[in-house]
Amino acid sequence: MLIRDATIPVRSFVDEVCQGLGNPLQKELPSKYLYDEVGSALFEAITRLPEYGLTRAEERILRRYAANIADRLPWHGMVVELGSGSGKKTRRILEAIARRRETTYCPVEISSSALESCERELDDLARVSIVGFETEYLDGLRRAASRRRSGEGIVVLFLGSSIGNFHRSAGEDFLREIRHTLAPGDAVLLATDLEKPMERLLAAYDDALGVTALFNLNLLARINRELGADFNLSRFSHQVRYNSFERRIEMHLSALDRQTVDIDGANFTFERDETICTEHCHKYTPSEVPQMAERTGFECVEQWFDQEWPFAESLLMAVPAP
Ligand code: AVJ
Repeated sequence: MLIRDATIPVRSFVDEVCQGLGNPLQKELPSKYLYDEVGSALFEAITRLPEYGLTRAEERILRRYAANIADRLPWHGMVVELGSGSGKKTRRILEAIARRRETTYCPVEISSSALESCERELDDLARVSIVGFETEYLDGLRRAASRRRSGEGIVVLFLGSSIGNFHRSAGEDFLREIRHTLAPGDAVLLATDLEKPMERLLAAYDDALGVTALFNLNLLARINRELGADFNLSRFSHQVRYNSFERRIEMHLSALDRQTVDIDGANFTFERDETICTEHCHKYTPSEVPQMAERTGFECVEQWFDQEWPFAESLLMAVPAP
């Protein structure tokens, strides 16, 4: 069964773009806008690049430990996935859960094309009903949770290490917000990419083929397409930095010369070499996740790791509020 819940735009694209580019210290754009139809397709290509080990690491963990993970989720109920993407890596875990009990699967996805391919990908699973939400994470989670019937539990899947896109403290705030929509005994399966040698990380976000560069530049192309802006894509270049103080990869778009861009009647001037920060990807130590859990109303009850590409899947259980 397949149902689609309607969309409520939370805040407008043009407002967020203009606010981000108006930041006098560091121009920035919200990374969630990287995922239009083209961006989602480019991200899928990134996950197959030899340099980008994250997705394969997560697939190995979920394939290997799907049954162990499902065994730790003690009740029947619903699975809400924040940012489902294509849904490919969700299949294993959902299969393992559905083998134990009937399940409603609620993918929450801001990209309609990704949501559609996710629904198509998982439509054949027995004992799984799919209710997709085309919206932002918390809005989708709240709307999915409101469909909970009494006695049902909720498992939130937050895979791919997308929590790394938040500042560390905002990531914790986000976990706290998730906890507020949950009840004791509900669970979050949280993926985090772990710290590793800087060279490996830089290569993962600046691949030789240039796919990540296209993924990054597509954000400007999208602003041109949807907001009628006049970014000249050939005058910006993809730049990746490792910020060792913050322990994160930063993706930037760097202006090759001084220029002014018009967006919907508003002008933004770029100095030569001035950058727009388009994404942060924080990296974690294994013990950081249980600490985050403890501060946000959860207990980390188990972690699973990949050895080839340091990556963790952590199971957090909601504890009673103090
Ligand atoms: C989908 C957010 C997990 O941060 O590694 C990939 C996005 N950006 N290459 C990540 C991304 C550049 C990715 N996440």
